[in-house]
Amino acid sequence: MKGVILAGGTGSRLCPFTRVINKHLLPVGPLPMIYWPILSLREAGINEILIITNKNHINAFMKILGDGKELNVKLFYEIQRKEGAGIADSLMCAKSFIDEEKFIAILGDNIFEDVLTPYIQEFLKQEKGARVLLKKVKDLSRYGVPQLDDEEKMIKCIIEKPVHPPSAYCVTGIYLYDKRVFQFIKAIHPSIRNEFEITDVNNLYAMENELHYDILQGWWVDAGTHESLYKASQYVNGEKSVEDDIN
Ligand code: DAU
Repeated sequence: MKGVILAGGTGSRLCPFTRVINKHLLPVGPLPMIYWPILSLREAGINEILIITNKNHINAFMKILGDGKELNVKLFYEIQRKEGAGIADSLMCAKSFIDEEKFIAILGDNIFEDVLTPYIQEFLKQEKGARVLLKKVKDLSRYGVPQLDDEEKMIKCIIEKPVHPPSAYCVTGIYLYDKRVFQFIKAIHPSIRNEFEITDVNNLYAMENELHYDILQGWWVDAGTHESLYKASQYVNGEKSVEDDIN
């Protein structure tokens, strides 16, 4: 299976650093942020990884990571032409890289403890559809929040940044898709904040009763704000654990 890491966007919540450096190159513990999702993929045996980022930042990524040899992975690069046009727009850039039926995509600011292997195995058992990984969090209004069908272990729908969250879980930025995801991306329209939302894509799977889920056991953090960037460093440095009240 191949992996895709989305590392575009504007990183506006991490200003002023992100005026000069891409968010995913900021330090999380001893390494640039993007190393962590790369290492998570490698740990699950995924060695061919596409990194999608902005035109102005791609050289910095290549300078730091090169072709991936130092990390024992094969890295490929793609530019998201419309900077900040949304996660789904960014994912579309992976279309020609994905020549297999199923793949995994990770948001470059998502850092987590779980080994991905069991979730990938469950996904491979699925005949088709998508699978997302959930985590119980406190600040639900920052995330996509699913309405769950517990019995069927399916997601009924997801609300992005809800005022009234339909569950206590957020949809993390770890997505397992079949190739149909690219058709679904083509079918969506920009949201009120003018982005092609990954939640709209996931809801198309949910409408077909094909959006499965698992719940992460270990710590997870979206390092996209100053506070959570700090937390991410605490986690990877072993100064905080899943037992601590974190999110
Ligand atoms: O972290 C989990 C959350 O990530 C989910 O719960 C939400 O459903 C999902 O929409 C997303 O929300 P965020 O508001 O945190 O997304 P953000 O705009 O911070 O983008 C996350 C990553 O996606 C970012 O690190 C890089 C990539 N990205 C984002 C945009 C907007 C791109 O590659 N291109 C883009 O245009």
